[in-house]
Amino acid sequence: MTDNQANPIPGEVQVECQRFRGRAAIVTGAAKGVGVAIARRLAQEGADVLLADINKDGAAYSARKLSEETGRHVEAFGGDLSQPGVAEDMVQRALDKFGRVDALVNNAAALIRMRLVDFTEELLQLAVNGNMWTTLRCSRAVLPTMTAQHYGRIVNIGGEAWRTGTPFHTLLGGVGKGSMIGLTATIAGEVGEHGITVNCVSPSAIAVVPSDQGPGSGALNPVWNPPDVANELARIAASRAYGIPRSAHPSEIAAAVAFLASSEASFVTGQHIGVSGGRAML
Ligand SMILES: NC(=O)c1ccc[n+]([C@@H]2O[C@H](COP(=O)([O-])OP(=O)(O)OC[C@H]3O[C@@H](n4cnc5c(N)ncnc54)[C@H](O)[C@@H]3O)[C@@H](O)[C@H]2O)c1
Repeated sequence: MTDNQANPIPGEVQVECQRFRGRAAIVTGAAKGVGVAIARRLAQEGADVLLADINKDGAAYSARKLSEETGRHVEAFGGDLSQPGVAEDMVQRALDKFGRVDALVNNAAALIRMRLVDFTEELLQLAVNGNMWTTLRCSRAVLPTMTAQHYGRIVNIGGEAWRTGTPFHTLLGGVGKGSMIGLTATIAGEVGEHGITVNCVSPSAIAVVPSDQGPGSGALNPVWNPPDVANELARIAASRAYGIPRSAHPSEIAAAVAFLASSEASFVTGQHIGVSGGRAML
């Protein structure tokens, strides 16, 4: 019996369609966590998928696992996507393996949650790099291919913390996800005539599926998530009784991403959708 069967997480979504046959996708930050759930959903619907992550071994492990699970062509790419040139290499790898790139899911993030006054200069840089430059560079790198194809879908994974004013999220939520909202709309405005849409899915708390964490993944990094901050965030989360009072199953995030990444979402662009059980409404 697996961990998932022993302790089922509520909300798991069943796949009922095949919208990605003949399509290829890139999911960033897919060594573990929500990125794996998104890549799984796209592969279950027929896509070939490139998992890109700074954690090369984790990406390779998850690619093997998803390939076995879904029977699709799932490949890994290792690299720091915040650095110049790496995103271009990632897109070239996808083109070499699949011959096209229909969808890019910008999911990679550096989950650093702490008081603004406690950020060192080094952590400030790392947080901006890992939460803003990754999205910008990956989006820029994939656009020439999508433009030439006259088809493309970019889905950015945001987060509700920026619009709920959640404490300790200034870099991750305010700068990272806040800027993601702006660039979702402005890139969407620029590329619509080429058949490319750009949208953003914003989760709030998401349950962890242990079997999607991969080797080497463990407890939260205590430098990035000091224990007093983590405890305070858990207290705030527990005190919120409105909306749907549970964490998301990662497949619930993946289901929304799959719609926006599919050809069905042809007239939806520049939009932000909260998949957060109503943590923020409208
Ligand atoms: N987990 C939650 O409760 C939650 C809530 C709201 C939003 N989100 C968002 O969902 C997404 C996935 O979250 P998660 O919980 O799975 O996170 P995670 O930390 O488990 O996974 C993020 C992945 O991104 C990779 N990554 C980080 N920086 C990178 C870089 N510079 N280049 C390449 N890869 C890099 C990491 O190695 C990691 O594998 C993130 O965008 C996150 O902000 C998560």
